[in-house]
Amino acid sequence: MKLVLVGPPGSGKGTQAKMLIEQYQIPQISTGDILRQAVKDGTPLGKEAKTYMDQGALVPDALIINLIKERMKAPDCKAGYIFDGFPRTIAQAEALEKLLQGLATKLDAVISIEVPEDEVVKRLSGRRTCKSCGALFHVLYTPPAKQGICDKCGGELFQRDDDNEATIRQRLAVYRTQTAPLIAYYTKQHVLKVVPGTGEPQDIFTAICRALKNEE
Ligand code: AP5
Repeated sequence: MKLVLVGPPGSGKGTQAKMLIEQYQIPQISTGDILRQAVKDGTPLGKEAKTYMDQGALVPDALIINLIKERMKAPDCKAGYIFDGFPRTIAQAEALEKLLQGLATKLDAVISIEVPEDEVVKRLSGRRTCKSCGALFHVLYTPPAKQGICDKCGGELFQRDDDNEATIRQRLAVYRTQTAPLIAYYTKQHVLKVVPGTGEPQDIFTAICRALKNEE
């Protein structure tokens, strides 16, 4: 199964990707997570990406496409993958199409998760992520049992640098202008499935699985 999750920041792409990993036994490829790791490690990619990420802007396409090309070579990608936060521009989508053509394969589905902007701001302002295992929490909606500590592994929870209201608004503006055109792009290719992203994460997951049933 080769999937793309598309949706505004905070629409729940990461949350749903983590549930899909279990269901389909395929890896999540989150360009955001890869970039944050590169920033943490202080690599040249991380140093370049940080300036864009801190402003809520997109990292240049060429850097992202190279990163994806490398990641797709890993053995865990043989059975498929869940792209989370990639592609994010038409240029990235076209590059992905070429890469997949080169491998004589194609996407099974692109899931568009729709959430109103005000809800996204509430979600991102309260998001907390585990430093050790990447598990996601929300201070109001899905709080950890012990404040600041991951329920799953006991790791420390942190708030992302770009989860402040000004940067969130900028990320939303970037989504509207640069990423939302992908909806029309993938509709034309007959692979788009739209899933409402409000309500309980488990119900959204059920809706995604139902949408994917025809693609298995
Ligand atoms: P990235 O890390 O991809 O961030 P994003 O797209 O802004 O998405 P988020 O991770 O913020 O949200 P999400 O949809 O995964 O939601 P989540 O599940 O966490 O990118 C960060 C930056 O990296 C970009 O700004 C850019 O600079 C750069 N970048 C990355 N990819 C790039 C690319 N391809 N090209 C160029 N630049 C790139 O959920 C959010 C919160 O809501 C959590 O607290 C969660 O617990 C909660 N929640 C989830 N579902 C629900 C629900 N149903 N109800 C209530 N709360 C919920």
